[in-house]
Amino acid sequence: MSVLLFYNFKGGVGKTTISVLAADHFSKAGKKVLLIDLDAQASATLFFKNSYGDIVPKRSLYTSLQKESLRPSICHLDSNLDLIPGDWDMSLWNQSLEKLPQRERNLVLQKYLTPLKNNYDFIILDVPPTLSTLVNNAVLASDYIVLVLQTQSSSYEGVLRTAKYLSQLRSDYEANFKLLGIVLYLVSKQANSDTSIAKEARETFGDAIFANSIYHRERVKRWANEGLTHKPNDVHDKRTHEMYSLFLKEVLYRIGEDK
Ligand SMILES: Nc1ncnc2c1ncn2[C@@H]1O[C@H](COP(=O)(O)OP(=O)(O)OP(=O)(O)O)[C@@H](O)[C@H]1O
Ligand SMILES: [Mg+2]
Repeated sequence: MSVLLFYNFKGGVGKTTISVLAADHFSKAGKKVLLIDLDAQASATLFFKNSYGDIVPKRSLYTSLQKESLRPSICHLDSNLDLIPGDWDMSLWNQSLEKLPQRERNLVLQKYLTPLKNNYDFIILDVPPTLSTLVNNAVLASDYIVLVLQTQSSSYEGVLRTAKYLSQLRSDYEANFKLLGIVLYLVSKQANSDTSIAKEARETFGDAIFANSIYHRERVKRWANEGLTHKPNDVHDKRTHEMYSLFLKEVLYRIGEDK
């Protein structure tokens, strides 16, 4: 059982899309998956709504966090796939955490995930692009973290700073999460991993960079708006799933779950 987080404090770098595709691919491969949408923007939830229809939990995630049990927020989407949907009220969570003692406030999610762990192979956390108590909770509840680097816009210092921040948090809390590496999200139209930006990132970060990158694909936008499809005869569906699949296989390999 592993808790996974795809993270960068920069917005719009494809974190949610990777999280949704990971949940989809892992569950279709027979793993039991729960995705928890901790983002008040709820973009992962919207993505799933467009794929599976309306999703209404018995209780919102925010209320469940207040009532100290997440189970009533779990929605069953597919045979191996569950979702705890996000909602606007998650924007209140940071403030309510601030009322707790300093150390305790960062460990709330970890505590409430523990009773769910037996039911799943993977719990994937989707967070907003912030450095916040909410994100600290997700980080400290995680076993594995993948940093997402959008090469077009972001500075490498940003990734270094994020990695440093995570390491600090890990030592402050004696946490055991592992940084699995950095995945490049290449927005460039040249679908070629040898672009100079990718090369430079590889020179800077070495083996920390995943061999398989994510490229800009129009099909992803269609999936987000109209729902995820797996049409075997549709070349764009196939190509785009293959791209995510190669990266996700590498994630499993780095975790040691590629058997
Ligand atoms: N590989 C891709 N190809 C094309 N568009 C993509 C790809 N990945 C993500 N997008 C689009 O880019 C936008 C941002 O993606 P996404 O929501 O996954 O990023 P995010 O990092 O989770 O954003 P936020 O920081 O706001 O949570 C969305 O419109 C999404 O559909
Ligand atoms: Mg997101």
